Amino acid sequence: MASFDELSGKVALVTGASSGIGEALARELARKGARVALVARRKDRLEEIEKDLRQTGGDVRAIVCDVRDPAAIAATATEVRDVWGEIELLVNSAGYARHILFSDHDPEDIQEMMLTNYMGTVHWIKQVLPAMRERRRGSIINLSSFAGKIAQADEVAYAASKFAITGLSAGLAQELSPMGIQVLCVYPTLVRTEMFTPEIMKRMPDASGSFLEADDFARRTLRALAKGHNEAVIPGRMKVPIILNALFPTWMGMMVGRLRLAALRKAGVKVQ
Ligand SMILES: NC(=O)c1ccc[n+]([C@@H]2O[C@H](COP(=O)([O-])OP(=O)(O)OC[C@H]3O[C@@H](n4cnc5c(N)ncnc54)[C@H](OP(=O)(O)O)[C@@H]3O)[C@@H](O)[C@H]2O)c1
Repeated sequence: MASFDELSGKVALVTGASSGIGEALARELARKGARVALVARRKDRLEEIEKDLRQTGGDVRAIVCDVRDPAAIAATATEVRDVWGEIELLVNSAGYARHILFSDHDPEDIQEMMLTNYMGTVHWIKQVLPAMRERRRGSIINLSSFAGKIAQADEVAYAASKFAITGLSAGLAQELSPMGIQVLCVYPTLVRTEMFTPEIMKRMPDASGSFLEADDFARRTLRALAKGHNEAVIPGRMKVPIILNALFPTWMGMMVGRLRLAALRKAGVKVQ
């Protein structure tokens, strides 16, 4: 468990820090006094955030790294260790979604998505774990999704990649909590980020009033971390459909499928 005070001076690394949830978490961690490595592919965006945070006293460092590349992950971890020492908090936020029917989805992109969303998380955890195990402390935050609890039509491959993170996180929490290492898996539903383009919104059931802002989401995530939780469904009210899905999976599947396909038909997408 990492209380807010404990975050001060801690070495954190956030993947997907160039936008959205990763950026908001990186900003919040820097504000709480953590030393934060900002990791993503877009150098210009990372350097802008780095400059901004340094101006307000943040001890941060932008590092370009593609999470699909294990060698780049190893080099990034070495760079952070050389500057600040071992990574004590890892945030795996890098990822992308595709809103597309499975029959239209190119298998190569499905593989890329798995490499980014799932294997990127796996390789980063492998990189930080030996030191965390040796020191018997550390924290890992993984970004799953509401779609990692309830499968969704039109996001089939994305949901599969997020179910993989759900399983990885739950099993790892069991293995690592006796060693003093916290694994927190976070389940966002709708957070206003670049992920939701107008084209994507057209394919989804109307959810305009349901978005959380990324900074609010980041604060709630760090509160769950401080409480020592292994899971955080944010916002909490989304636990209701998750519980219903666990109890009545066939019925929930039918309801979710109907909603999603109706939205697609409304958007003019041929679903049959
Ligand atoms: N927003 C939501 O409502 C929501 C809901 C459920 C789950 N999530 C999850 O939350 C996480 C963050 O999403 P977001 O909403 O913040 O989306 P976003 O604004 O699009 O951010 C995605 C981040 O991932 C990075 N990224 C993508 N591919 C990468 C790669 N190969 N290597 C390194 N970085 C990569 C992007 O940076 P570069 O392009 O610069 O590399 C970007 O910083 C994702 O895992 C997403 O699945 C979000």
